[in-house]
Parts: sequence; C-alpha cells; structure tokens
Amino acid sequence: MTSFPSVLDSALDLRDNEVSELFRLANKLQNNEFVLPQRNSLNAPVIATFFLENSTRTKYSFAIAAKKIGAHYIDFQIENSSLKKGESIEETMRTLNAQGVNVLIVRSSINQLLSCYKNHPYINMKLINAGDGVTEHPTQALLDLYTILELQKEKKIKTIGLSGDLIHSRVGHSLLKLLPRFGLTVTLFAPEYFKDPKIKDFKYHQNKNEFLADIDLLYLLRIQFERHTNLDATLIDPNNYHREYGFTYDEISKFDLPVMHPGPCNIGVELDEKLLKSKFYLAHKQVENSVYVRMAILLKMLGENEFLA
Ligand code: NCD
Repeated sequence: MTSFPSVLDSALDLRDNEVSELFRLANKLQNNEFVLPQRNSLNAPVIATFFLENSTRTKYSFAIAAKKIGAHYIDFQIENSSLKKGESIEETMRTLNAQGVNVLIVRSSINQLLSCYKNHPYINMKLINAGDGVTEHPTQALLDLYTILELQKEKKIKTIGLSGDLIHSRVGHSLLKLLPRFGLTVTLFAPEYFKDPKIKDFKYHQNKNEFLADIDLLYLLRIQFERHTNLDATLIDPNNYHREYGFTYDEISKFDLPVMHPGPCNIGVELDEKLLKSKFYLAHKQVENSVYVRMAILLKMLGENEFLA
C-alpha cells in the first residue's frame, strides 16, 4: 500500500499507482463492497468545506461524500466568519485545525493557495484543493478520468478533444497533467485568445470538423467570464463563439461522440441546449461518479481505506 499525500494540491501529487488504488476503492464504494470502520460521535472524523467561491457540484459532492463515510461535516461560511473582520486565511485555517478538523477542502480564486501549506509548521490537517484560481482542480480531473476509464469498457476511447477556455480553466490544467499518464492522447481546439502559452506539447486543431474527426470524446471547458480580467470582452461575443468554437447536437451526432463538461455550462456558448439534453452529454454521469471518487479520496486521506469487505 502507498501513502497518500496530506495536501492534494495538484494532479501531479498522486503517482500513477496511487490513482489506480484510489479508483479501485471508488469502484468498491460504487458497488457497495466497502465496510466502513466503526464510528461513534467522538471518534468520527471532521471534514469541512472552506469555499471562498461559489460551487454546486464540487462542494455538495464533497459534502455528501463526507456524510456517507460517517464524518461530521462542517460547511464553513465566510459571510459570518472572522474573515469578514479581516482575519487572514492562514489564521482561519490554523483555528479550524486547532478545533480538530481532519480534512479541509478549499476553493478560492487565489492561484496556488495551498502550496505554502505543504509541511506547514502549525497546520497539519489534510488539505484538498477544490479549485484554486486558474491553476488546478485535481479532484475534478480524477473523477473525469474515472468516468473515461468506465466508458472505455463500452467504447474505444483513446483521443480526448479538449476545447474551450484553456487559459483560465483549472480543470483543463489538471486534466492535461493527468490524462496522458493513463494512455490517453489529448488534442486541443480553442480560439487564439484562449490558448495558454504555458500549455506545450499538445496539438491544436485549427478546423472544427478535423478536430471532431480526430477525437473519441469531446471535453468542453466553460468560458470562465468571471476570470477574464485582461481580456477584451468584445472578443467573446457568445453567438460568434458558439458558431466558431461551440458545438451543436447536429455536429456531435454526426460523429457520435460522448461529451463531457465539468459544469456549469453556458448554454448557447460552449454547446446548444439540444446537445445538453441529449444522450451524448455525460456531465451528470461525471457528477454521479464524483461522489464515489471523493469518498475514496477522503477515506485515503484519513488512512481508512484498509477496511475492505
Ligand atoms: C469547475 C470549477 O468551478 O472550477 N467546475 C466544477 O468544479 N465542477 C469548472 C468551471 O468553473 O467551469
């Protein structure tokens, strides 16, 4: 058995065999083949979400996962916390650590917020990056890989086409660090203004039809309007974007492609409503799997994964 990192900050923090072990555990949870350790109120772990940005999928799937594994779940609210009195994030985290939080799940708009909490002198609770600025969102990439591997049992999936707001997407950045390690090829499709100069070694397609013909699965990234600080907003007219870089049901059905999206999506921008409501759109399967994968992550972080049935 391998150790699991105590700060899960990047998709690179897990070795390939740790990812495989994690997925074995997620699969046991999915098939109801896992027996939890005995818990009482005093020995149950405490898991808290610390979200300084909005979220539906990530926050509530972690909350559900925490409750399902029998932990005490705390939903930290900024609005009525001392952060509003000017207390720092570090001091707030140190306080939660002292109160006995075992795992803190953190989302914020600050790039690489957790990097200074690896080997921190006072904060020793486990930390999970649930999205930091435009940097990474490792647990989303993990549940996406889990979903892709599940799909591979029914369909040949080798090349993933990643399209959208690559430069501002923390999900995209984590996927690019994870998918190629598991036998998947990733190719990209995006307008110039969304190309990330830091993304190297991946092929960009210029033509939408050639891109669709080259891939086995389309992964759409949301246009992250709230993060477009330096971008001329007029560049992204939603209708133009949809025509040139978005995808319709008719285009996708021609190529019979599964479509993934981390959600939330912009209807009429990345995709049309008919595609969202079609059999090709797998975002709800991703959400369903997110609970198993996040339960497995929490159990691994708590070192409780040996209680196998
Ligand atoms: C992502 C997020 O919020 O970072 N969504 C998610 O976690 N399910 C992607 C996004 O914002 O587009």
